[in-house]
Amino acid sequence: MTIHIGAGPGEIAETVLLPGDPLRAKWAAETFLDNPVCVNRVRGMWGFTGHWKSHPVTIQGSGMGMPSLSIYANELIRDFNAQTLIRIGSCGAMQERIQIREIILAMTCSSISTPSQGIFRDLNFAPCADWSLLNAAWRAAQARGTPAHVGGIYSSDVFYDERPDLNEQMIRHGILGVEMEAAELYNLAARHGRRALAVLTVSDHLITHEALPSADREKGFADMIEIALEAAFA
Ligand code: HPA
Repeated sequence: MTIHIGAGPGEIAETVLLPGDPLRAKWAAETFLDNPVCVNRVRGMWGFTGHWKSHPVTIQGSGMGMPSLSIYANELIRDFNAQTLIRIGSCGAMQERIQIREIILAMTCSSISTPSQGIFRDLNFAPCADWSLLNAAWRAAQARGTPAHVGGIYSSDVFYDERPDLNEQMIRHGILGVEMEAAELYNLAARHGRRALAVLTVSDHLITHEALPSADREKGFADMIEIALEAAFA
């Protein structure tokens, strides 16, 4: 039991999927895991542990933004011994060739700042995905015929962005999409020697301004979750 996760000893699996939305954690656990058990209710940030193809898996909400994710990822790593942490979430596409519903596998994450800034100070640390997970997720997407893009993403501190010039620079430098959590997850995994990856579904588009209709969201998110599970146990 930690300050933010009420699970008892042994109730969190070594493999943890981290959606931002706690209700998505509940849906994913009920949809993809066998015999999911609720292991966390603190602050309504649901966490569930069950089995996928007989492998133990926990699906724990992380909340929105890096400060929130950092709390859950720190406790999962330091107190519950999580070894493989995969963010499953949505992102905004930043390249025209990327379509709504497609998958982005985040190879690296650029940011203006993260909760780790206090450690890195003037160092531009480059948070990157675990190669074994990234490679396995790519292969899983290929095998399913799910369109997936691999490359750098931008982990922003703000959803309502007042810096259009910054987005222009991201787009110009080939960044695939924007979300708000992955850079800190990769920092923490690097610090503690764990494996991390972000598998993201494109829910909106910063160039075309398209957005995924809410009725279509479940199917897109289902592909992302299955790719994450297949990568974790490849
Ligand atoms: N910005 C930041 N985070 C996001 C976005 C976005 O446009 N879409 C989904 N997550």
